[in-house]
Amino acid sequence: MKRERLDKVLANMALGTRKEVKQLVKQGIITVDGEVATDPGMHVVPEIQTIEIDGHPLSYKRWIYVMMNKPPGVISATEDTRHRTVVDLLPLEWATKVHPVGRLDIDTEGLLLLTNDGQLSHSLLSPKKKVDKEYFARIEGRVTSEHVEHFRRGVTLDDGYQTMPASLEIITQGETSEVRVTITEGKFHQVKRMFAAFDLQVVYLKRLRMGALHLDDSLAPGEFRELTEEELAALRGDSRE
Ligand code: URA
Repeated sequence: MKRERLDKVLANMALGTRKEVKQLVKQGIITVDGEVATDPGMHVVPEIQTIEIDGHPLSYKRWIYVMMNKPPGVISATEDTRHRTVVDLLPLEWATKVHPVGRLDIDTEGLLLLTNDGQLSHSLLSPKKKVDKEYFARIEGRVTSEHVEHFRRGVTLDDGYQTMPASLEIITQGETSEVRVTITEGKFHQVKRMFAAFDLQVVYLKRLRMGALHLDDSLAPGEFRELTEEELAALRGDSRE
């Protein structure tokens, strides 16, 4: 077990940013094994020491926030009768607690957030918050500036739904095109259906970003890591907007 700075442990427990938790220590309301903590930089072993705020014990890692580079072939769900799910890729102590924030199709890769923080998850998915999602896509067919303009105005999907304005940026143009698409909603198969409205087929789709959270490109497909404090604080900002 690792000794860690108290302020880092408190921030990981989602009590606030490093700066905010330092304030809590200064207020004298944090105790470690019954002693008032005065130094936010003191070292603790959170798994075995009792840390309390205002007399209430804090459970270590109450909140789990994991970024995954979702590989193709797994389902964004906590269980499925036929396929492996994204939580099957996680260690057991996380797998039993977290859920994916939103869905990526089975063949879509890239950024997926998994957490047991239902409130954050709910806010990030709320249509009112308009958290943008950025994708890289490879498209069979030629994507043109006309498509860019259509996306900018919003696209009518096969069921008649008119999407919100979306940003489409052409990276390469040809028999197959590579693009970057940013949408603010999360309708079922939305990106694929937006291109399908112009008889274009998405042959590869990868999510790069969700609000302030960027996919860590050092994560290979199937790999994951916990969010940093900075990433979490930035996502919390998105969920409040
Ligand atoms: N749009 C899609 O069509 N599929 C995804 O997985 C995500 C966005």
